[in-house]
Amino acid sequence: MQLRLACIPGDGVGPEVIAAALPVIRDAAALHGAQLDVLEVDWGGERHLRTGAPMPADAADIVRQHDAVLFGAVGRPDVPDHELVWGLIIALRQQLDLAVNLRPVRSWDGVPSVVTSAPGTDLLIVRENTEGEYSGAGGRAHRASGAELAVEVAIHSRHAIERAARYAFDQASRRRGRLALVTKSNAMRHGYTLWDEVVADVAEDFPAVEWQPVLVDAMAARMVQRPTELDVLLCSNLFGDILADLAAVLAGGLGMAPSANVSPQATPGLFEPIHGSAPDIAGQGIANPVACLLSGAMMLDHSGLPAAGDSIRDAIATALLDPSIHTPDLGGTGTTEGVATAVRAALNRERNTR
Ligand code: NAI
Ligand code: MG
Repeated sequence: MQLRLACIPGDGVGPEVIAAALPVIRDAAALHGAQLDVLEVDWGGERHLRTGAPMPADAADIVRQHDAVLFGAVGRPDVPDHELVWGLIIALRQQLDLAVNLRPVRSWDGVPSVVTSAPGTDLLIVRENTEGEYSGAGGRAHRASGAELAVEVAIHSRHAIERAARYAFDQASRRRGRLALVTKSNAMRHGYTLWDEVVADVAEDFPAVEWQPVLVDAMAARMVQRPTELDVLLCSNLFGDILADLAAVLAGGLGMAPSANVSPQATPGLFEPIHGSAPDIAGQGIANPVACLLSGAMMLDHSGLPAAGDSIRDAIATALLDPSIHTPDLGGTGTTEGVATAVRAALNRERNTR
């Protein structure tokens, strides 16, 4: 089996974690009989400075010729953040109609968390990925008057809510059968009341899933106090973005949290660590590659190779038991390359014992 992968290393630590993760992902695929055929593209901040755009106009068409996309991160101090986030990652999510963003978070033996209730956490954030507060609708007026104002419009459509909800309930029915709908329908009385209604309709098709609506502020507290009770969290675009960073801290930090942008249709998925380009540590070789490795594992899961995804996750679990490889974000003195080498060694031990 041949897997055609478009790879966007991007900026900052993006290329560092991709360079470390790709050989491991390649080995895991090979272990399960698949070959990776990788096209690496130069999309990101440097390209934006050179050409005025972070990716070419036909980027979505290029992506469609592949089975999946592995993305590092974008963002550099000399380019306004919204140019790159809107010019690349949100653009691809919208153009490819990547309706759902999956953000699994679990705690790992041997990896400390600053949250004492975190051990045993295993949750999945399912985030609507194309509209909500990130629809891009709005504008700025009266720029020169000294009384400038901005309007940012959130869009919540029945169509988008329903497909995210169906995906989330389906995931819950394959997991522990519990789902929390995260909203703010007490204070935002248009969009989030629509969420409540649509999700109640969808829930009728999944009678085995126990579900409840939870207000986002209460959920933030619950995630810190009792995270092990949580299974699937169904969120709007904004709330899913924020709560995913909080959830990542349960697992040890942003360097531990992967994501998948997927479409219920057959378009290629886009897999990326949830973290950004981390300019504060870029170039030092100390970025944690686990989030990128786990994103690669999700890419293999969604490409019909879940056993290869499991091989990566098992190898990470084994490698992380050794604190001497932990990168500084986990409190250690290890390096990006050191983590990748340890994971690759664990993976190769699996191959040799087969
Ligand atoms: P960030 O995720 O890049 O960094 C936040 C903190 O987490 C920093 O202290 C950083 O050192 C740490 N961190 C992140 N990834 C890490 C890793 N793999 N290993 C160890 N530590 C890690 O978020 P920040 O600082 O808000 O944004 C930096 C840039 O990244 C901005 O330009 C922003 O727009 C962009 N960004 C891009 C995203 C994307 O490409 N999907 C997502 C989030 C931010
Ligand atoms: Mg984010």
